[in-house]
Amino acid sequence: MKKFWTSLAIIGVCFLLGGCGNKKEDKLAAIKESGELKVGTSAEFAPFEFHTLIDGKDKIVGADIDLAQAIADKLGVKLKIEDMEFNAVLATLKEGKVDLGIAGISATPKRQKAFDFSANYYNPPQKVVINKKDAAKYNSIKSLSGKKIGAQKGSIQEDIVKEQFDDPQIVSVAKVPNLILEVKQGSIDALVVEETVGASYIAQNPELQFAAIDLKSSEDEAYAIALQKDSDTLKKEIDKIIKELNDSGEIEKYVKENTALANKSTEE
Ligand code: ARG
Repeated sequence: MKKFWTSLAIIGVCFLLGGCGNKKEDKLAAIKESGELKVGTSAEFAPFEFHTLIDGKDKIVGADIDLAQAIADKLGVKLKIEDMEFNAVLATLKEGKVDLGIAGISATPKRQKAFDFSANYYNPPQKVVINKKDAAKYNSIKSLSGKKIGAQKGSIQEDIVKEQFDDPQIVSVAKVPNLILEVKQGSIDALVVEETVGASYIAQNPELQFAAIDLKSSEDEAYAIALQKDSDTLKKEIDKIIKELNDSGEIEKYVKENTALANKSTEE
């Protein structure tokens, strides 16, 4: 009985302070107060986030990084990028170690159960990347039956491989550039990736191309910014910024500029 009253008292105090469970914490106000926007990403995904050398120094750049910078600027805070494996981005956000996940993250219904998402900001279709020399051989879903098909670990492409191919041997790899290398070397037959990203790596690897295979794509796969649950005020603010950047053609511009930058970095 004593325990009961103690618990009740704790609940009461929590209630008065309005802080328990952090449900009511205003995340937007907290970011402004800290002076810093912490963004989790996985910089192996050109043109959205990738490493490049600028004046001999390694830098993380990309369309998502420009988007993150625009948000930080509008909030009047500094941007801090935390680079990690894609597989860890949402988990790190859940733990509250970053404020946002911006990594070409598809706002699927499954993920929406655990996270809030901003409005969509990009929606590329799904594509299959193969070696040019295999173009005649791999030209249908059926032609890849039972073959080794790569997908990034923790990505929706893993599900797409499992759901849309017959009896595939799925090969999950942490980083997209390593998947590209595996296709080139022939240790996997194909890989599934979104068009804008695939096109960027094909431009850097002329022995590769898209297969003439149509995959099912859906609106559920569009990119959105991931936020912790109960981020209402922050979501509102970010949606407003995304709308402005979309309407003015800025996001399209980020993608174009960073595609050019990604191609340039391999030429040097
Ligand atoms: N859109 C896919 C997903 O959300 C892949 C995203 C991969 N992003 C990255 N930065 N590697 O599952």
